[in-house]
Amino acid sequence: MTIIFRYCIYHSFKMQLTRVASFLVRGHSVSRSGAVLIKNSYCVSAVRDSTALLYRRHGEPSQAVQLESLHLTQVGPESVLVKMLAAPINPSDLNMIQGTYALLPELPAVGGNEGVGQVMEVGDKVKALKVGDWVIPRDAGVGTWRTAAVLKADDLVTLPKDIPVLSAATLGVNPCTAFRMLTDFEELKPGDTVIQNAANSGVGQAVIQIAAAKGIQTINVIRDRPDLQHLSDRLTALGATHVITEETLRRPEIKELFKSCPRPKLALNGVGGKSATELLRHLQSGGSMVTYGGMAKQPVTVPVSALIFKDVKIRGFWVTQWKRDNKHDEDALRSMLDELCVLIRAGKLSAPACTEVSLQDFRKALENAMKPYVSTKQVFVM
Ligand SMILES: NC(=O)c1ccc[n+]([C@@H]2O[C@H](COP(=O)([O-])OP(=O)(O)OC[C@H]3O[C@@H](n4cnc5c(N)ncnc54)[C@H](OP(=O)(O)O)[C@@H]3O)[C@@H](O)[C@H]2O)c1
Repeated sequence: MTIIFRYCIYHSFKMQLTRVASFLVRGHSVSRSGAVLIKNSYCVSAVRDSTALLYRRHGEPSQAVQLESLHLTQVGPESVLVKMLAAPINPSDLNMIQGTYALLPELPAVGGNEGVGQVMEVGDKVKALKVGDWVIPRDAGVGTWRTAAVLKADDLVTLPKDIPVLSAATLGVNPCTAFRMLTDFEELKPGDTVIQNAANSGVGQAVIQIAAAKGIQTINVIRDRPDLQHLSDRLTALGATHVITEETLRRPEIKELFKSCPRPKLALNGVGGKSATELLRHLQSGGSMVTYGGMAKQPVTVPVSALIFKDVKIRGFWVTQWKRDNKHDEDALRSMLDELCVLIRAGKLSAPACTEVSLQDFRKALENAMKPYVSTKQVFVM
């Protein structure tokens, strides 16, 4: 049963203390009226409380999200207390808040699906984690935009502590997506070419770097912008072979580019609409286009000729599904994370360009995350 400790000082606590129905927000108790309750624990130490970005309804992220104080539940035998260190704002987090994503947690929910935290306390039966470990969520839906949480140990996976905190906070989604798409669809050898749009996205930057580390060439398509040269230089410094705009991709001169590199075996589409159709036009016969995002919110149109004369394969990828499909294969996720960490340590995989923000500045951060041409990921640093 939920116990309410009257000496916990929160304004919301003054509300109908005994009548409110309570429900759990992954390790916190929150009342339907907004009052924050405690489940079998004393509200004594700072680490027993958490500040979280919570949403109680779907809507415009900067309006729907609120900064709230939550009380942590007691650490159970199979759970751990985690202090969050950093957590990014990804497009899927925004879509979840808007209510348009394929996966929607029960409301109220804490925002954020990835991030890194440090284990502060472990339950009696927890063997795989110890105090001090860095951990990231194994699956989506955990709610990472908060200072601390009590989570099931099985829902977490460790990361080494010798990588930068921003790399750790942004490793579980975008680099894993890039890694799988470069591995699971076409057999790519050094010298082969991959073409991608949204090349400056978090996924795109990881694709550039992982491909470069494997000797794979990349043609990177970005939208035109006033600081195009600056962005192009940045992506080239990451290892991009070619950086071109969406407009250049449509011009006949693009054929010149294929005199110096083979036509792509693999196209990675995070945009949809015309951009995806243009990627397809340049794919080599029998190649694959993998759609993983739809930033333009436009359907993918496949030219009939690409199917008849080139027999291209049209595929899709969702890293959440991959993680779920491989849930019982401990090695699958571990070995991918280990390989990515080797690249990070070797200086071959850096975190995307990030803007660090406090939880308190969440409105501005959420607004910035939705602006076009920003080219930097908003990351909450707790
Ligand atoms: N399927 C999966 O498993 C998976 C995993 C990770 C991510 N994703 C998806 O991949 C996409 C990118 O995620 P991210 O975290 O890498 O993104 P991000 O770092 O936030 O970057 C967003 C990217 O989208 C581009 N963009 C925004 N609106 C656009 C539009 N209308 N037309 C063309 N490009 C547009 C931006 O380009 P500008 O700089 O030009 O604005 C930027 O390159 C999202 O759709 C995300 O949901 C899917």
